[in-house]
Amino acid sequence: MTHLRTGSIGATPWRDRLLHHKWALLAILLCQMGQVTASLLLPSFSADIIDIGIGGQDASAIRYYGGLMGVAAAAQLALSGTAAFLGATVAYRIGQSLREDVFAKVHGLALSQVQGFTVGSLITRCTNDVLQVQSMLIMALTMIVVAPIMGVGSAVMAVRQDAQLSWLLLVSVPVLAGLIGFLTIKAVPLYQRMQTQLDRVNSILREQIEGIRVIRAFLQQPREAGRFAKANADLTGTAIHAGRLMAMIMPSLTAVMQLTSVALIWAGASRVRDGDLEIGALIAFLSYVALILIGVMMMGLMIVMLPRALVSARRITELLQSPVEVGPPSDPKPLPPRGSGLHLRLEEVGFGYPGAEAMVIENITFDVGPGETLGIIGATGSGKSTIVNLIARLNDPGTGRVTLGGVDLRDAAPDEFASHIGYVPQKAYLFSGTVADSLRLGNAGADEATLWNALEVAQAADFVRAMPDGLMSPVAQGGTNFSGGQRQRLAIARALVCDADLYLFDDSFSALDQATDRKLRAALRQAVGHAATVIVSQRVASIRDADRILVIEKGQMVGLGPHETLMQTCPVYAETVHSQARPEEDAA
Ligand SMILES: Nc1ncnc2c1ncn2[C@@H]1O[C@H](COP(=O)(O)OP(=O)(O)O)[C@@H](O)[C@H]1O
Ligand SMILES: [Mg+2]
Repeated sequence: MTHLRTGSIGATPWRDRLLHHKWALLAILLCQMGQVTASLLLPSFSADIIDIGIGGQDASAIRYYGGLMGVAAAAQLALSGTAAFLGATVAYRIGQSLREDVFAKVHGLALSQVQGFTVGSLITRCTNDVLQVQSMLIMALTMIVVAPIMGVGSAVMAVRQDAQLSWLLLVSVPVLAGLIGFLTIKAVPLYQRMQTQLDRVNSILREQIEGIRVIRAFLQQPREAGRFAKANADLTGTAIHAGRLMAMIMPSLTAVMQLTSVALIWAGASRVRDGDLEIGALIAFLSYVALILIGVMMMGLMIVMLPRALVSARRITELLQSPVEVGPPSDPKPLPPRGSGLHLRLEEVGFGYPGAEAMVIENITFDVGPGETLGIIGATGSGKSTIVNLIARLNDPGTGRVTLGGVDLRDAAPDEFASHIGYVPQKAYLFSGTVADSLRLGNAGADEATLWNALEVAQAADFVRAMPDGLMSPVAQGGTNFSGGQRQRLAIARALVCDADLYLFDDSFSALDQATDRKLRAALRQAVGHAATVIVSQRVASIRDADRILVIEKGQMVGLGPHETLMQTCPVYAETVHSQARPEEDAA
């Protein structure tokens, strides 16, 4: 329930993310310009060595141009190295900040928003999509400046070496550009399809790993294997198709380059024989043509990468810019100080999940004062958890309001609010670490006596004491090395360690046997008698002693009052009590 800095996140546009690194980007730009210039000079120097040095038998010219080539090559190496280093740093930093923002954003989302995106997609966005953007950035920072300068610069240099041969370029460059363009246009939709197919593989894999026990128990391996194989084959098919197209780029480039070279040598040789052209100039011309074609290919590669990265960037932006439905208020109102007792009040609260037409709960009104206990009872799916989630501010109500000490939850500072409540979710989830770590989640400074005290109340002390390492025993991710009932009791102890003013127990006693349930409730009354308590249950025994009981049916309040009154006035409640009345429960 920690709310990270959720306010302005997502507002950071891509432009600002780049501007944040403006000096590094400027340095990269200058380095790249320098290194392309150096590589453009190299063929011209070698032409001079051949034509002036060797042709003119001038040893000092060879030394001079050789020296220049050495300097240019060293500069090219140093500058391109620096640019690559800076480029990678900038790209990885931007990737890191994106992951940070996605992470913080997810923590600020309402529960219903998380379910709307789906957990699988949120993970893909934080990992694979950021990776795509990051790779695109590295590529762009290496090629975006280099490709055009190299293409145009080489063309200029080539024309300078020999204007007459240049007509060949007018043929080969358009042919190559056309070829790459054709292949790219074919490949782009394939890459876009690949991204959604990858999503599908991820989500199937995720579902199957999470449901592995169900799959085994119901002997669904063949069906599930088939489902995965189909998604995998779809992805592979598209990838092979796209890969084949892209694989044709290199051979086409080589073919065009070789043909151009043959044509150049054929046309150039006769001009050399006639003395119109120096051999060195012809060789330099050939080198420039190769550089031009490489420049064209780089642009082609970028055009291919771009749509993939754009799809990913859009998915990240969509997440970062989704409105924070349970965001912190701009001007928070203070809650009463801790320990002074809190009054919880729901006023005509209604809520519907996004996308669903009907409201799940409607017109819920009740209050719970300090020292009071409210029970909520109703069938599965009647809306009990929905109510508790609104009180825990995992969602905000669609209509009406929830107030704590007279302050609307939407006006309270999230951290202050969180420190007031002890919440035990319906699905007890423990974080990995030791038992002590798990218990200290909401109160890092709690001493061992506090922990044991909470364990005693939660009826968890016995089994923790029985473990060889006691409080230092390991807890697996999610708490999977404990039984359902043990996990519930540890989650209850964890909430008790917070020493809150309001406790919410969402069906938290469901995995406990009757006797433990009874002992736990008696201990709770002793330990947290001062707090306001909401207990959700489907079992009458768990809530019949509450000060007031809210009976809920299909999202509507059908009764509110103490057990005796409801037995008289609320047929739904009386029916539930009768249907559950068995000899052992009457004793409760
Ligand atoms: N994330 C959700 N999206 C859409 N509908 C939901 C979601 N969670 C619960 N519901 C619906 O809301 C109703 C109430 O659910 P819930 O509050 O969990 O019931 P209870 O806790 O009483 O068993 C159910 O009909 C359920 O189908
Ligand atoms: Mg529930």
